[in-house]
Amino acid sequence: MIEINGKTKILGVIGNPIEHTLSPVIHNTLCELLGIDAVYVPIKVENDIVTAVNGLVESGVYGLNVTVPYKQDVMKVLKGVDELAEEIGAVNTLVRCSGGYKGYNTDMPGLARALETKGVKLSGKKAVVIGAGGAARAVCVMLKNYGAEKIYLLNRNIEKAKAIAEEIPIVTPLRLTEYDSIPEDKYIMFQCTSVGLKPEDELIIKSDDFYKMAEYGYDLIYNPAVTPFIAKLNELGVPNDNGLTMLLYQGIIAFEMWFGLKVSRDMSEVVYAELCKKLYGDNIVLIGYMGSGKTSVGKELAKSRGMRFIDLDEYIVEKEGRSINDIFTYETEEYFRNVESEVIREMSTLSNTVISTGGGAVLRKENRDNLSRVGHVVYLKADPETILNRVKDDQSRPLLKSESEEELRKRITTMLDSRNPYYEIFADQVIYTDRLTPSEIAEII
Ligand code: ATR
Repeated sequence: MIEINGKTKILGVIGNPIEHTLSPVIHNTLCELLGIDAVYVPIKVENDIVTAVNGLVESGVYGLNVTVPYKQDVMKVLKGVDELAEEIGAVNTLVRCSGGYKGYNTDMPGLARALETKGVKLSGKKAVVIGAGGAARAVCVMLKNYGAEKIYLLNRNIEKAKAIAEEIPIVTPLRLTEYDSIPEDKYIMFQCTSVGLKPEDELIIKSDDFYKMAEYGYDLIYNPAVTPFIAKLNELGVPNDNGLTMLLYQGIIAFEMWFGLKVSRDMSEVVYAELCKKLYGDNIVLIGYMGSGKTSVGKELAKSRGMRFIDLDEYIVEKEGRSINDIFTYETEEYFRNVESEVIREMSTLSNTVISTGGGAVLRKENRDNLSRVGHVVYLKADPETILNRVKDDQSRPLLKSESEEELRKRITTMLDSRNPYYEIFADQVIYTDRLTPSEIAEII
């Protein structure tokens, strides 16, 4: 946390309600990482947005975000509105200019950047958008601006879909029930309705064939992390993301505009991990080499905190109906890693759970991304010698099969050397476990 002084710049977000905003996490983390003397605060504006913004101009507030319900109304008090914000019809970022603020929209550039970092290209692509509210319309504008070829827009109320199609020629409006008239092809799919926000919400379109046409899917909802839409894509193995990456990058782009800099990909990932922790993070994920004590520490932690305990390997054994040894014998390691990734994806719905992962789980980037969304990551670190003593009589670990103790020692040391950097960089907390009992380690966590 920065030390606030007379020169500290003030940034903030105006809206109502504003109590649950995640934006301070983004901007205050960036200030800290970049050593910028500024602080970002939520500002609740009861109803008079004009008076509020004029007051903030006069008070020298350096930069602002704007959220619901002021994204349109704020325009009337600005010195200028950027072309894209005008086209989208909503402003979410205010940048100081002579005598006031100019309004921008970083939501859609934020979504575009989130997709770009995932390697999802829009140019020349076909898309399916579900929903026809303000968010869906903005997504259609983005798709058009980034060169998408065609958009099928599905909505319960066809009139709203038709209104968007009138403005954006590449849009074909359809009723939800007409989803099966979309030609068989590969699409980028966007879920832009409010369905999924409530726990009892069900998938709007039920057919698997519909979702199988997705090459990638994005749900603008980020809380809960897994909506029925995301769950279906996970089930079908379609790569996907939720709206948290859009929230992240709209904030990052706003920050870049305020301070005239570029936030690196690595730094963005740090901020993303902070967001995940704040939003989803009441779970604890234990990582480390086999024999590092993940299971015993995990059970101890779960018991003392009243949490649930899941051992990822045991979960896989149950799911597959055979032992890890058998999976390695009759399938490939690749097969095992795919099942592991699938199971980790399922973990994103958990809360109040201690999750012990297999030693190799964090080698895949996809798993690291998904696990950092799940909760606080703790690396239980142990010396090769400690591990050797713990695992040498254990026959259930296929990667440790060795002829002699010497060979086993070598294998452990080599594997630890290659995995250690992954564990260290990824973890939120590293604990040296050699001289500690499981309950002492649980206490430290
Ligand atoms: P936003 O501005 O965030 O996009 P919105 O304008 O309220 O929010 O839009 C909500 C979207 O969710 C609309 O597309 C709405 O469909 P209708 O236009 O037919 O109302 C969609 N939606 C909300 N509840 C729905 C439900 N139960 N089934 C299907 N669509 C739903």
